[in-house]
Amino acid sequence: MADSARLIDPLGRIHTNLRISVTDRCNIRCFYCMPDENIRFKPRHELLSFEEIERFVRVVAPLGVNKLRLTGGEPLVRADLPALIAKLASIDGIRDIALTTNGILLAEQAQALKDAGLARVNISLDTLTEETFRRIARREGLDRVLAGIAAAKRVGFEQIRLNAVAIRGITEPEIVPLARFARDGDMEMRFIEFMPLDAEEQWQHDQVLSGEEIRRQIEAAIGPLEPAPRPDPSQPASDFQYADGSGTVGFINPVSQPFCADCNRLRLTAEGQIRNCLFSTVEWDARAVLRGGGSDEELAQLVREAVWAKKPGHGIDSSEFIRPQRAMYQIGG
Ligand code: 5AD
Ligand code: SF4
Repeated sequence: MADSARLIDPLGRIHTNLRISVTDRCNIRCFYCMPDENIRFKPRHELLSFEEIERFVRVVAPLGVNKLRLTGGEPLVRADLPALIAKLASIDGIRDIALTTNGILLAEQAQALKDAGLARVNISLDTLTEETFRRIARREGLDRVLAGIAAAKRVGFEQIRLNAVAIRGITEPEIVPLARFARDGDMEMRFIEFMPLDAEEQWQHDQVLSGEEIRRQIEAAIGPLEPAPRPDPSQPASDFQYADGSGTVGFINPVSQPFCADCNRLRLTAEGQIRNCLFSTVEWDARAVLRGGGSDEELAQLVREAVWAKKPGHGIDSSEFIRPQRAMYQIGG
């Protein structure tokens, strides 16, 4: 593809990866993401329809976007997600569709999702104990998550990853059991540093449990880890393999080791706003173009503008860091 057609930002980062949030709703209330109560979800008509999402993807695929990830909120609470996946999978140039889910509704939907063309799933799993699950999610549901994981294995996705948000004071006793659970089940475990995107704005720097610390614990309890090959330099995780060859553990360290320099991700929120970063404080209104009779070229131009305005990094650790107005569930993880 000619460079002039691609989505390149001023630092030369070529954007090929789009994360699409399909809803801001969720069936649990993780404290690192959502408020516990009094949430004002977007009314249905404000969310992009499947047709609008499909059009957006048809416009960005020729600009080089080839990987999609569906997120939320919790994407599986949106009715009929397999229908959207089937539409997106049929678009020329889309090579990979993945889903990030909390797993609660996955047992019921795994087969339909797979049949529709979903290749990979990331399932959030912060703990293996019901008590800690309740402390984090402020709802019940670990049994259903585990059933969802089992179903995902049964239907045979290309890849199943388990994501744990690492929070000091909560995650330490979970690290080794989670790593073992993933390794025994032939799944990849990923630990993600807690980011300042919680709706209640309680995030404190000292709650970040770094990937380095987690790695040392796993090595002490399970065995040595070696850096895994990086086929895709834009992947946010540092992946490690157990030296005995069975299993991988990844670390997403946005706070302690920002990976902004290789970021190739764009985001579309559930109500159709383009974001060039999780931590953007500016958005580009794709819905206005989609609903205002705008042409495909106008939409493409808006996406180019958003990419061109991308900052070098999020600067969480700088004194000028400004928290985005939105929390994680309103952005899409
Ligand atoms: N910090 C880090 N990760 C988060 N997630 C949600 N909120 C945060 C946060 N504040 C993760 C969830 C899930 C994905 C949607 O994003 O664990 O894996
Ligand atoms: Fe729901 Fe995911 Fe947010 Fe937890 S992190 S409240 S599962 S959207």
